Amino acid sequence: MTKPISGFSKLTKEEKIDWVTDNFTQNTAQSKKILQTYWNQDKSVQQLHDEFIENTITNLYVPQGIAPNFLINDTLYVIPMAIEESSVIAAASKAAKFWLNRGGFKAEILGTEKVGQVHFIFKGDAKKLNPFFTYLKPILIAESASLTTSMEKRGGGITDIVLKDKTDELADYFQLHATFETKDAMGANFINSCLEQFATTLKKEATKYADFSAQEKDVEIVMSILSNYVPNCTVRAEVSCPVEDLNLSAELTPQHTAEKIIQAIKIAQIEPYRAVTHNKGIMNGIDAVVLATGNDFRAIEAGVHAYACRNGRYSSLTHAEIENGIFKFWIELPLALGTVGGLTNLHPLVKLNLEMLQRPSAKELMQIVAVAGLAQNFAAVSSLVTTGIQKGHMKMHLLNILNQLGANENEKAILVEHFKTNPVTHHGVEIQLSTIRK
Ligand code: MEV
Repeated sequence: MTKPISGFSKLTKEEKIDWVTDNFTQNTAQSKKILQTYWNQDKSVQQLHDEFIENTITNLYVPQGIAPNFLINDTLYVIPMAIEESSVIAAASKAAKFWLNRGGFKAEILGTEKVGQVHFIFKGDAKKLNPFFTYLKPILIAESASLTTSMEKRGGGITDIVLKDKTDELADYFQLHATFETKDAMGANFINSCLEQFATTLKKEATKYADFSAQEKDVEIVMSILSNYVPNCTVRAEVSCPVEDLNLSAELTPQHTAEKIIQAIKIAQIEPYRAVTHNKGIMNGIDAVVLATGNDFRAIEAGVHAYACRNGRYSSLTHAEIENGIFKFWIELPLALGTVGGLTNLHPLVKLNLEMLQRPSAKELMQIVAVAGLAQNFAAVSSLVTTGIQKGHMKMHLLNILNQLGANENEKAILVEHFKTNPVTHHGVEIQLSTIRK
């Protein structure tokens, strides 16, 4: 068995690769070659990637495509999307084209409030905490001034701090619950720095507070951290058209199509098993744009799914209705995104992607991302209630199967043509490939 290693992070990249390929792969030379295949040719680009994280040995490529024809609030966008799933960009593009001639997407920001908390333990008379907090609050703001000045110049900063008594749920547990406006930054570093300063000030002031007993003076800071749950940093995106314009299928009338879409949404609203898959399809679109624009998709995922169960049951992020002959389809979700700071300033491709999006503000990016999610859901649900998902999905997956089976370019061309009119299955592709090879 391989022995544990110490000081690993101090080894050179080559030494790390030697260690992992010698100890954990079958064919050292071949493994090294695979790792090197994914290195960037341009040494400075590779160095940038090496330095994003610790112990970098290579890069894992995710294809990036673009979905054109997105009309959002009367501006035409091409949306960069980084995703490995075959059918996502095709579906987004199809939905964009469909809505292009039906007024496009309308999006609006509902709020931009970010959240962070200092979690602390106070053992003593809880009633004394309210007057202490009244005394403390201006000091918290004053002592974080050096951190907030430049954010304030951009129109952001700390918007409020409240004291929360959580002792009903956990003995002696209280919070400073702070809210922030971070303008075009996602704001994680700004928020966390402010919170850590609040914690220091809280601890210091408690020690000096005359009305506290010795035990009460000994406030214990458990942790200070932003929250990725941002239910007041939300965006709404919508499409609508007369029901008769919903001509998506040769088999169903537009009215029937609209009713089936609404039924599918209602199911996702009340049935968590369906809601999770329904929202997963939405996140196909959301994550792809979030990743392409250098934002933190894990933070977005966590916040979105918490929001999806804010009423006590995990439910659909999208909604649909028919009112006075108009079909309306919309999404509402939290998105804490940034277009400055972090990777957005550092990663050349991320910068280019933001340029393709016409250098959006964080609010504009929230709208674009919400639209990508709505478009994805429209494409998925409208396929599900008409032709089913596999037809389109397997068509897109065909090239993956052909690559897996080692088809050459000529064989691919013949089989792509063949499967335009035949259902795609893995076995079917195998049979056709061996037929043409014979
Ligand atoms: C697949 O990645 C996403 C779908 O399952 C979404 C949905 O069912 O709505 C097609």
